[in-house]
Amino acid sequence: MLDLFADAEPWLEPLAPGAVILRRFALSRAAALFQGIDDVAAVAPFRHMVTPGGYTMSVAMTNCGELGWATNARGYLYSPVDPLTGQRWPQVPTALSELCHDAAVAAGYPDFQPDACLINRYAPGAKLSLHQDKDEANLAAPIVSVSLGLPAIFQFGGLRRQDPLKRLMLEHGDVVVWGGESRLFYHGIQPLKSGDHPEAGAFRYNLTFRQASNSE
Ligand code: SIN
Ligand code: FE2
Repeated sequence: MLDLFADAEPWLEPLAPGAVILRRFALSRAAALFQGIDDVAAVAPFRHMVTPGGYTMSVAMTNCGELGWATNARGYLYSPVDPLTGQRWPQVPTALSELCHDAAVAAGYPDFQPDACLINRYAPGAKLSLHQDKDEANLAAPIVSVSLGLPAIFQFGGLRRQDPLKRLMLEHGDVVVWGGESRLFYHGIQPLKSGDHPEAGAFRYNLTFRQASNSE
């Protein structure tokens, strides 16, 4: 397939107050990012977490960094230890942390110091229902979210669940950053359409960098 954007420079699309999409920002580094994801998953495998309500999530997840997002019978939490292995989560691979830093700077958040990186893997049909990212102790820090592999439709709303939703296609290499006024805006991913991506096969991957602890 002819890809007219293969050599294009990244471009910035405003999304909401405090939120931007850095289109194709991660494209030129995708190979190193996939390698980093593979390295993390070799130590902390992808798994389908079960919500406190007993629902098995369709998205497969793992983490790297000081803290990782997980579920247990009581709720959602950030833990320094992977509940599956009993070991600390793997360190964030350099390619991932450098990309996150550069994206945060480009989006106007130069002081962002993430301590958690959640890695999501979507197979066809997998989705993430509308939610707020509010398990982090430091809500002054933004979220940096990197999309790789198959495209997906991202919903981005407002502070209330019933606020109108924007629906945007997120493609391979796109980075969304939201903070400030939009830090707690509802968002989600519609069920993934099947496809065959040259580097990711049947999957979409998403990295979200967060500052989960309040220490900084
Ligand atoms: C998330 O909301 O944590 C992930 C969003 C995405 O997969 O793009
Ligand atoms: Fe989220």
